[in-house]
Amino acid sequence: ATTLGASAAQTGRYFGTAVAANKLSDSTYVGILNREFTMVTAENEMKIDATEPNQNQFSYGNADRIVSHAKAQGMRVRGHTLAWHSQQPGWMQNMEGSALRSAMLNHVTQVATHYKGQLYAWDVVNEAFADGSSGARRDSNLQRSGNDWIEAAFRAARAADPAVKLCYNDYNTDDWSHAKTQAVYRMVQDFKSRGVPIDCVGLQSHFNPQSPVPSNYQTTLSSFAALGVDVQITELDIEGSGSAQAANYQRVVSACLAVARCNGITVWGIRDTDSWRASGTPLLFDGSGNKKAAYTSTLNALNAG
Ligand code: G3I
Repeated sequence: ATTLGASAAQTGRYFGTAVAANKLSDSTYVGILNREFTMVTAENEMKIDATEPNQNQFSYGNADRIVSHAKAQGMRVRGHTLAWHSQQPGWMQNMEGSALRSAMLNHVTQVATHYKGQLYAWDVVNEAFADGSSGARRDSNLQRSGNDWIEAAFRAARAADPAVKLCYNDYNTDDWSHAKTQAVYRMVQDFKSRGVPIDCVGLQSHFNPQSPVPSNYQTTLSSFAALGVDVQITELDIEGSGSAQAANYQRVVSACLAVARCNGITVWGIRDTDSWRASGTPLLFDGSGNKKAAYTSTLNALNAG
């Protein structure tokens, strides 16, 4: 097939991108979006600060615009994200303990209910583990509200929208030997053994020369999948250019296609100029919307599956 979405669909997978609502009036951007992708993630518009700027006052305008666009184009949507230590509105940043717990669960319930039946998956909890070698939870106001905050969020999401897939999403969880990867693995294993609802694990997969595609990446994907969850590459970008970057994209896509339960890949933006990275060229299209070598290697890897 000749587009990313159609090529991924040949093996039953999706190929998605992060979308920013304020770019839906950019015709070059929208042209590529509609042509190439079958899944979208709101880059910022479904985060807590965007959807609940004042406590119990919900704001869905930009997020709904993205969902409407996706639906009109026959694309599906991954929700991102219900509970996170970052991008909290000011009122939540100042909360702690049981008041924060209640506010967080109310947020999960309200937002998941608003989108009930409309989304493919939710990143219920984002980035809850610490970097480094500790394998510990990340310190945050949410973590200090009690170690069971993550499962409480997943249970609330399931209650609000029984059909949506519930994912745990994190970065630096690509290398199987990394303490953070092992810690997330043990949490998912524990959730599955105790019947805490969880359907998928998202590996963000932001790669750069300091944090390259690990040689054991496929082992990480297959190990999570063996726990009985889907695995998705949720925020892929790879710093670099030319044939080296193209080879890295090819490795990531091939690793996913080698794992039956790796059922979708999302890149974190369309053109290099859309990337969250202030400088750099980590995406599949250049600033003018032209296909890069990384696009071709990605497409070829999808078609080889
Ligand atoms: O919209 C405001 C604008 O009104 C204001 O003038 C401007 C001034 O700073 O800020 C704008 O908001 C920025 C927003 O992006 C939209 O551009 C925020 O400051 C900025 O913090 C925000 O950055 C986002 C970041 O998450 C926030 O945590 C990036 O776009 C987004 O790509 C990035 O995405 C994260 C994932 O959610 C989780 N994983 C890592 C990934 C990359 O950091």
